[in-house]
Amino acid sequence: MQSQLTFDPYSEEFFAQPHEIYRRMRAEAPVYYHEDLDFYALTRYEDVAAAARDFQTYSSAGGLDLAMMRSGEEPPKAILYMDPPEHGRMRGLVNKAFTPRAVEAQRATVIEVVRRCLESADPRRFDVVQEFSAIFPGEVITCMVGVPPADRQQFREWVQVALSYQPGQTAPDETTLTMLLNAAAYCYNLVLERRTQPQDDMISTLIAAEIQNEHGETTSLADDEITVFAMLVGGAGTETVTKLVANAVAAFARHPDQWQKLLDDRTKIPAAVEEVLRYDSPVLYTLRKTTRVVTVQGVTIPAGKPVFLCEVAANRDPDVFPDPDVFDIDRDHRRAQQLALGYGVHSCLGAALGRMETAIALDHLLDFMPRYEVIWDECRRVNASTVAGWGQLPVRVG
Ligand code: HEM
Repeated sequence: MQSQLTFDPYSEEFFAQPHEIYRRMRAEAPVYYHEDLDFYALTRYEDVAAAARDFQTYSSAGGLDLAMMRSGEEPPKAILYMDPPEHGRMRGLVNKAFTPRAVEAQRATVIEVVRRCLESADPRRFDVVQEFSAIFPGEVITCMVGVPPADRQQFREWVQVALSYQPGQTAPDETTLTMLLNAAAYCYNLVLERRTQPQDDMISTLIAAEIQNEHGETTSLADDEITVFAMLVGGAGTETVTKLVANAVAAFARHPDQWQKLLDDRTKIPAAVEEVLRYDSPVLYTLRKTTRVVTVQGVTIPAGKPVFLCEVAANRDPDVFPDPDVFDIDRDHRRAQQLALGYGVHSCLGAALGRMETAIALDHLLDFMPRYEVIWDECRRVNASTVAGWGQLPVRVG
C-alpha cells in the first residue's frame, strides 16, 4: 500500500529525494494542501507556469519562506519580494548591470577563476563541490559586484552561513541574522566608497543607473537599495551555480554515455546545461501568496494563502517533457521552456551569467576529468532555504 503523501518543504527527506515526492504530488494531488501548515503547492507544468505569469493573483511581496510570510512583517526591499509596478522600476534599473554585454564581459574572469581552481586540484581525486563549484561562482560574483580581492573570502562566508538552513528550520535564526548584518554593513560602506570613487564594477554601474518612471521623472537607486541588491546577487549568484554544477557532475556520472557525447562534440554544452537545469535544478520551489480567490484544477485556493510553485516538479511533467526522468542532452528544448530559472516578471536576472558559468565549468571539467566516477559513499547533501544539493561530491578521475 502507498504511504500517505506528505510534502514537508523543509524536511530532510524532501531535500534528499525531491523528485519522488514531486512525482506523487503531480499524479495524486496536483493542487496539494498541507492542513497543519495551511499552504498549497502546485506541481504540474501548466499550473506552475500560469501562476508564475499571474503576478496579480500570486504575489511575491510576502517573502520567500513561510515564516516570513506568516510573520506579517515586511520582507527586505529586495527585487525578489516586489510586485509590479515597484518591481518594474527596480528591474529596469538593475538590468543595466546585467546587459548581454555586461555578462559577456565576465567571460574572461569566469575562465580564469575556473582554470585556477582546477590547477590547484588533485588530478586523480578531488571534491567537485569543496574544491571547485563552491569556490568559483563566489569569486566571479564578488569580483563582478566590486568586492576587493582581500575581502572576497569573508563576504562569501557571510553569505554562505546566512543561506544555510538546518533540516526543519523554516526561518532565519540568530546566526543568519548576524551574518546578514555583517554583509549589509560591509556592502553599504562599499556603496558609499564607490559614490565618491566609481570603478568598473556592478556597484558603480548601479549608482549611475537611471530610468524614467511612469510620470516621465528620472529615478535612480538609493544606497540601501544597492546594498540589498548586492547582497541578493551575492547569495543568488553563488549557491545556485554551486549546486547546479554539482548536479551536472552527478547526472553525467550516472549517464556516462551523455558525458561521452560532450567529449565528442563540445557544441552540445549549451544544450547539456539546459537539460541539467530541467532534470535537476537546485532551486526546489518559489513561494507566492494569493491576493484573491483562485481555482486551479477544480480546487479553490482562498485569498491570502502561501502557494509553493514547484518548478522542479513542473520540469518533469510527462505531459510536457516526454520520458521526463530520462537525462538526454539531445532533448529538443524548443518544444517547452524548462522553468528552473523561474518564469514571468521574476524570471532569473542572472540566467545568462549562470548558464555561461555552468557551460565554462563543464568545458573545463571535460578536459580535467574525461573519465571519472563519483565516490557515492562519501557524498553529502546540504540545503539552504529553497536550494538543495550536494555539499560534498568527491570523484575519482581516470
Ligand atoms: C544557474 C543557476 C540559477 C538558478 C537555477 C536560478 C534560479 C532562479 C529562480 C527560480 C528565480 C525566480 C525566483 C522567483 O520567481 O521568485 C531567480 C531569480 C533571480 N535570480 Fe537566479 N538562478 C540562478 C543563477 C543566478 C545568478 C548567477 C544570479 C546573479 C548573478 C541570479 C540572480 C537572480 C536575481 C537577482 C533574481 C530575482 C529576479 C527578480 O525578482 O526580478 N541567479 N533565479
